[in-house]
Amino acid sequence: FDSRMIAPALLDWYDRHARDLPWRTGPEALRNGVRPDPYRVWLSEVMLQQTTVAAVKSYYRRFTVTWPTVESLAAAADDDVMAAWAGLGYYSRARNLIAAARKVAEASGFPGNAEGLRALPGVGEYTSNAIAAIAYGEAVPVVDGNVERVVSRLLALAEPVKSAKSLIRETVAAMTPLDRPGDFAQAMMDLGATICTPKRPACVLCPINDRCTAFLAGPDPATLPVKAPK
Ligand code: ADE
Repeated sequence: FDSRMIAPALLDWYDRHARDLPWRTGPEALRNGVRPDPYRVWLSEVMLQQTTVAAVKSYYRRFTVTWPTVESLAAAADDDVMAAWAGLGYYSRARNLIAAARKVAEASGFPGNAEGLRALPGVGEYTSNAIAAIAYGEAVPVVDGNVERVVSRLLALAEPVKSAKSLIRETVAAMTPLDRPGDFAQAMMDLGATICTPKRPACVLCPINDRCTAFLAGPDPATLPVKAPK
């Protein structure tokens, strides 16, 4: 398995099939050197932490219309933000959102790398790396549950995800291309959401099936990742 062989085929697929989501900066804009706004990337990633893409979309749109900048969110009344969050669940995220916005406004901007971002309330390793990769082009590994499943299949991992965290992280780090780390991260998410799904993965449509150990040599990708024994 050669990690460096994954990104080119996956990015080529992403260029043709990326989901059109409101927090994404289109390929045209990115080619023209437009960088995504860290405020919008942060807001979307916090909303997406425990909520589906379908549910987040309308909330994301409403938040960015009401509070187009981190300064405007920082200046909002707590009750207004909590009311706008109502329905998204996991309300500690909204409390952290307000606290982080005020910290960022106070500091006159978002921290400029993944390590700095991790100091914000509600921003853990996954979220810091996603923001840094997407907004800043920092080549850090972005690993969520979907990515763990994809990698389990690529490597035909015999262990449960729980005991292979560092192997998965190292594999994603080695796969992440220096030139388009944010697109690569989002391509992995789209692959996990649309093709490399938990049940009945659509392997024949997969742009990297010719590099997937489970698809090529078994076991059946649908059986991976293996469950941890109770
Ligand atoms: N889930 C978490 N972050 C995401 C993103 N940027 N695009 C799609 N799904 C996601």
